[in-house]
Amino acid sequence: MTWLITGGAGYIGGHVLQQLVAADVPVVVLDDLSSGSPDRLPDGVPLVVGSTLDRALLDTVVRQHRVTGVVHIAAKKQVGESVAEPLRYYRENLTGLQTVLEAAVAGGARKVVFSSSAAVYGTPDADLVTEATPCAPINPYGETKLAGEWLVRSVGRAHGLSTASLRYFNVAGTSSPRLADDGVSNLVPMAFQRLTDGQAPLVFGDDYDTPDGTCVRDYIHVADIAAAHVAAVHRLDAAAEPLSLTLNIGRGEGVSVAEMLAVIARVTGNPTPPRVTPRRPGDPARVVAAADLIHRELDWKAQHDIESMVTSAWAAWQQR
Ligand code: WQD
Repeated sequence: MTWLITGGAGYIGGHVLQQLVAADVPVVVLDDLSSGSPDRLPDGVPLVVGSTLDRALLDTVVRQHRVTGVVHIAAKKQVGESVAEPLRYYRENLTGLQTVLEAAVAGGARKVVFSSSAAVYGTPDADLVTEATPCAPINPYGETKLAGEWLVRSVGRAHGLSTASLRYFNVAGTSSPRLADDGVSNLVPMAFQRLTDGQAPLVFGDDYDTPDGTCVRDYIHVADIAAAHVAAVHRLDAAAEPLSLTLNIGRGEGVSVAEMLAVIARVTGNPTPPRVTPRRPGDPARVVAAADLIHRELDWKAQHDIESMVTSAWAAWQQR
């Protein structure tokens, strides 16, 4: 009944792992430690250091640990980098997934949970993005996630696997400083960085067609993301027949950049007014999830609000 967690030493993977262990799900982690850290692993969890591109290693892990399911989180996730290095992103994200699926099928593992992203939607023309909203990624990162979903679904159908592709919206916050995001490539850490350096946080454009002119997103606490994975693992473990799920993980509530920066100013106690710069290319005005399907399918609902995301991330930031 062991689940293999790829990318379990990363920011999201570490949170998923913590909650799976708390739920008594037996786990083994595969991580190449390119951005992950062994410090994120709970005591006693076996860590195999290696690549998802290493088929022989995956075969060994699946066999030795009697892996029956895989939560595949390991991936590259920087949009700008994916535009500059599409070959690397397709290899790491898509060939990596393919190799994991090959090993899973060959070793008799019957369940797969795949980390997808709201990036599959591109610039959606919908107030609330449902899983039926057309997918039209606008960068190689999003393309690898959409193609990954197709591969997962097709392999599931052909080989009788139960699968769940989980489309994360904008992940933020942390359950503990040890598990925190150490990257500075999203709004919350980027604002922290600027404030720490004595600079004004930046607003990438305030002339969007939104209530306050700044972009609107659906921010979701990483602990809620992790809880959705535990629910998906339980659902797939319990499925009598092969199952194929594709689900948004969001709160269903839009928050603008200006609103987010106001919370950040309050939580950090730093009132430096933000500075508006021109739009960042490729940013959609609004991306907010409809979160009804995951509630119905997994009985999951987000528990954490924006305040909790910013407060936990700031506490971790100060301990860096
Ligand atoms: C959020 C909003 C910026 C920094 C990205 C990927 C997506 C997914 C999550 C996953 C935007 C604005 C930001 C700043 C700002 N990737 N902003 N000032 O772009 O919504 O989503 O991360 O793994 O695929 O595209 O997230 O945090 O970069 O930006 O005004 O200093 O904040 O323009 O509107 P984004 P983000």
